[in-house]
Amino acid sequence: MRIVLLGAPGAGKGTQCKRVVGKYGLLHLSSGDILRQERAANTELGKEAQGYMDSGRLVPDEIIVEMMAKAVSKAPGTGFVLDGFPRTVNQAEELDKAMASAGNKIDIVLNLKINDEVVQQRMTGRRSCPKCGAVYHVDNLKPKTEGICDNDGGELVQRPDDCPEVVANRLKTYHELTEPVVDYYKDSSTVYDIDANGDADKVTALVFEKLAALVEV
Ligand code: AP5
Repeated sequence: MRIVLLGAPGAGKGTQCKRVVGKYGLLHLSSGDILRQERAANTELGKEAQGYMDSGRLVPDEIIVEMMAKAVSKAPGTGFVLDGFPRTVNQAEELDKAMASAGNKIDIVLNLKINDEVVQQRMTGRRSCPKCGAVYHVDNLKPKTEGICDNDGGELVQRPDDCPEVVANRLKTYHELTEPVVDYYKDSSTVYDIDANGDADKVTALVFEKLAALVEV
């Protein structure tokens, strides 16, 4: 199964992807996580991406497309879930070309729809584990011990691009450049809108319902 999960920053893409890969045994490919790993390793790609990420702008398409096409080509036969990519119509077109050359296509697009005010609340409360990438929220999805990862005891941190000013820029970029990707996919793939304003378990139930229908087909 090859899935694209679309949605605004903070819509819950990472949270839902982790649950989907857990249930279906797919590979989770998050462009944001890969970029953060490149930054942590101080690679040329990471250094190039830094300024864009910290100000809430998109990293240029040519850098992202090459990085993600490589990741997709290494995915196992069971498939993958793309999180945060594609984020422009050009990225979607390039992904389609790369997949077509390997005889593949995207099977389903899940579009997490969320109100901008909910995004601000989620982003300012997000905390994540630098060791395993687990994501929590200070109010909505608390770890068992405050500030500590349930999985490995790592100290939870706040992402630098989760401050209100940068979140506002990321939302603006999303509305201008990423929302049109939904229409792009409506011509070629099955696209489902999912109400992502509810709590995480409620959203997961909606996501699993759509995926179950696909698996039955
Ligand atoms: P990226 O890391 O992809 O950030 P994003 O898309 O802005 O999405 P987030 O990771 O912030 O949110 P999410 O939807 O995964 O939500 P989460 O599950 O964490 O990208 C970062 C930057 O990298 C970009 O700005 C750009 O510069 C660059 N970049 C990345 N990809 C790129 C691309 N393709 N092209 C160009 N540049 C690219 O949830 C958020 C919080 O809410 C958490 O605290 C969580 O616990 C909580 N939560 C989740 N779901 C719920 C729920 N249902 N109810 C209550 N709380 C919830």
